[in-house]
Amino acid sequence: MDFNQIIDRHHTGSVKWELARQHAGQDAQLLLPMWVSDFDFACPPAVQAALSARAAHGVFGYTERQPDYFAALLNWANTRHGLTLNKEWICSVEGVVPGIALLLQMLSAPGDNIVVQGPYYGTFRKIITLNDRLLLENPLREVPGEGYQLDFDHLEALFRDHRPPLMILCNPHNPTGRCWTSQELERILTLCEAYNVMVIADEIWADLILPGATFTSVLHLGERWHSRLIVATSASKSFGLSSLRISNFLIPEPGLRERFQKRLNAHGMDAFNAMALTAATTAWQEGAPWLDELLAYLADNRAWFTAQAKALLPWAIITPAQATYLLWLDCRALGLDDAALQEAMEKKAGVIPSMGVGFGPQGSGFVRLNLGCPRHYLEQALEGLMRI
Ligand SMILES: Cc1ncc(COP(=O)(O)O)c(C=O)c1O
Repeated sequence: MDFNQIIDRHHTGSVKWELARQHAGQDAQLLLPMWVSDFDFACPPAVQAALSARAAHGVFGYTERQPDYFAALLNWANTRHGLTLNKEWICSVEGVVPGIALLLQMLSAPGDNIVVQGPYYGTFRKIITLNDRLLLENPLREVPGEGYQLDFDHLEALFRDHRPPLMILCNPHNPTGRCWTSQELERILTLCEAYNVMVIADEIWADLILPGATFTSVLHLGERWHSRLIVATSASKSFGLSSLRISNFLIPEPGLRERFQKRLNAHGMDAFNAMALTAATTAWQEGAPWLDELLAYLADNRAWFTAQAKALLPWAIITPAQATYLLWLDCRALGLDDAALQEAMEKKAGVIPSMGVGFGPQGSGFVRLNLGCPRHYLEQALEGLMRI
């Protein structure tokens, strides 16, 4: 695959390419978008071919997931992650975010506290607060040179003092790129058990693991924890299918699963997009070699950018990551407040990052850069960042 190929995404309604530029105004066309987490690569050729064939069929009446969809998903979980899933556990929802939003409604009441690790994916705050719940942040601890660690004492204090019914556990973690270890996950689940907290594990990034790193799903920890776990997964991040809208919530506990499925039905969320089913099924069936090539390209991108930034951007500190194509960049040495940092990024560097403050107070002074793009864009970004 030639991941260096530049594909013009203008006039496709791309959020990443159109929205920020509209917002930025006048010189917007010159700005390089490095924010929203989707990548600028075409999806695997096998998926494109399957979508073309499905489109050529021409009939788009109601569709349901077929045995090949479930078989492809189970096989992917098994071969890629060593997980044995049960087909019965699978509830499909059009996206991870809408599924989590429905679970918030189901597993908590207005005014309840919902725990997340900060810095946190900003959309978690959006769905928590718009559903009239309160976001309770457990700040990760920064360990210089090593990245971020969980703060278990603080987490326990939050559980004890605020009695949250639910935590959203992002693993691998957006924006820092941390994969939580099995020991860390077990410690979290032990605390959740002690304080009766349910866990939604958002594992949407699970396939995008950097060389040498290991991803552990909460489901690897065994049946003992099943009753308090809901795990969200999707082929969307891995294969560049975000706009097609399909995700899977794995819920081993039958009562919980029935309640969730009922809630999906109650919202009429029990019909599926034919193109999404075709794309996800084909991606899992045939996409592994393509994904391996992509991961190698993304690892090279990260290594290249990190080396260049170390040499040429004296103010930049790069957070070590184990997963994702996101770079969590510490810009605090610039001594700018967040408004000035944004202005420097846009006006001087010509780059649109995700501003760290969008990830909560822990993100102040940081930006998140999306490295899921042809190398040429990274070169452009670096040149721009050198002007700051
Ligand atoms: C942690 C996390 N969860 C969910 C999503 C979005 O999921 P979906 O598009 O399936 O709603 C993202 C997208 O960036 C994400 O980073």
